[in-house]
Amino acid sequence: MYDVNDTLFISVPAEEDQENPWLRGAWRPQGKEYAVSGDELTIIGSIPEELDGIYVRNTHNNATTPTGIYHPFDGDGMLHAIRFRDGTCEYRNAFVRTTGFLAEQGAKKALWPGILQPQEYQRRGWGSMGSMKDNAGTDVIAHAGHLIATMSQGSEPWCLSPDTLETLGPNKNWAKLVPDGLSSHYKVDNATGEMTFFNYPQKAPFMNYGVVNKADNLVHYVPIELPGPRWPHDLGMTEHYSILHDLPYFFDEELLKKGIHKGSFHDDIPARFGVIPRYGTSADVRWFEAKPCWVMHLSNCFEDGDWVVQDGCIWDNLVKPPVGVEEDAHAIYARIRRNVDMHPTGAHLYRWMFNMVTGEVREFPLDDEVSEFPVISNDVVGRPYRYSYNALFEKGEWHLNGLKRYDLHTGEAVRLEFGPGRWGSEPAIARPAGSSAEDDGYCIVFITDLIQDRSECVIYRADDLTGDPVCTVILPERISVGTHSCWVEGDRIAGEGRAAR
Ligand SMILES: [Fe+2]
Repeated sequence: MYDVNDTLFISVPAEEDQENPWLRGAWRPQGKEYAVSGDELTIIGSIPEELDGIYVRNTHNNATTPTGIYHPFDGDGMLHAIRFRDGTCEYRNAFVRTTGFLAEQGAKKALWPGILQPQEYQRRGWGSMGSMKDNAGTDVIAHAGHLIATMSQGSEPWCLSPDTLETLGPNKNWAKLVPDGLSSHYKVDNATGEMTFFNYPQKAPFMNYGVVNKADNLVHYVPIELPGPRWPHDLGMTEHYSILHDLPYFFDEELLKKGIHKGSFHDDIPARFGVIPRYGTSADVRWFEAKPCWVMHLSNCFEDGDWVVQDGCIWDNLVKPPVGVEEDAHAIYARIRRNVDMHPTGAHLYRWMFNMVTGEVREFPLDDEVSEFPVISNDVVGRPYRYSYNALFEKGEWHLNGLKRYDLHTGEAVRLEFGPGRWGSEPAIARPAGSSAEDDGYCIVFITDLIQDRSECVIYRADDLTGDPVCTVILPERISVGTHSCWVEGDRIAGEGRAAR
């Protein structure tokens, strides 16, 4: 029998009584936590014997009825993890028990407003706006023997056991040294075991940047002076540098002084990318100006002679209609749907090149198809690489409907579509120990199938995305689609330092 915890306080109305599109359908949250062995799961095909590690995906999975407008980025963090080893697997899911989550469980109601109504807050919160629940539902990555989950604006670095998904608390070594928290995203250099991160509070200097070492100690934390409050989402990592983002999407500063958050894309202000030595300070940042844009997610960055290369998905049409509280719920949800539709942004794979000797900037598209949430193998983070696996999106919806694999050496790409009513999440690339080529491994993704009313963990060959899946594991319950994921190699579960390959 499944090991199921169904004792949590869940007040989100049942799907059939739910109008909010991000609390029903593909976004229907779970109220139960499972721990299930492979013997109890339906497995189609065979799990490769060589697959050893954990695929973990974060999810905004709200437990309580929202106080007001609910945005798909507001929900409590829930991790879904599937551990592969010796040709079998175990699946479990668990809420990230943040301070805000536990407070709402105790109060048996929502206590904080969502991202669209920061002015409605009744008590101090978290995030760059200081008004939200610390939902820790955006990012997840493994470092120094634990998982770290955060929310995009920044929350405490919530640590969880990779084996049990037990919430261990904010990082015991250094969370108190980083009062502005961790923003998504943070990067781990598997060659050194170091993790780099940033945050972006709405007060000067408007950004902080740090490094945690392999032993899980904060060894570098410096202010980065920006011209004003910004809304970055990712940072780049190369062997010797980090790349910080000062992008022309930011809040009106005069309105911000009155507590009003009105974000605008300033298409007349260049994007600025700051290349900083891994242990550099604000004075060491070398800023490069580029075409006005916003960047949500990077594929990878690397050094090539005098050049620092940054690949990621450029948003060069960031027009977001405002969401007004005066509208009825139906109109509000329609506007949010338009806001999270990836297609109007034009997000597509792009390359920026920064010359550290001459200061020259080169930038050009690598593709024109709309894609986002690019992922690569952990083994090539910050180093020259060949393959980027990007998510494709349904037009008009915040639904990932397929994957596109880019071969950046040949310029070729292959597309995989999940099929009607099947929505995915960010995949992860799993390279077994002893792999040779960069794509000698697996591409793993959770897919929620609304037609079959179930969710699956699907394993594809990373070098043959369009072939039949190697294996499909049917999960015990249909799960909400989610956000970011990671792969934790079996020999990294206890900490960094896997053998070089
Ligand atoms: Fe993200």
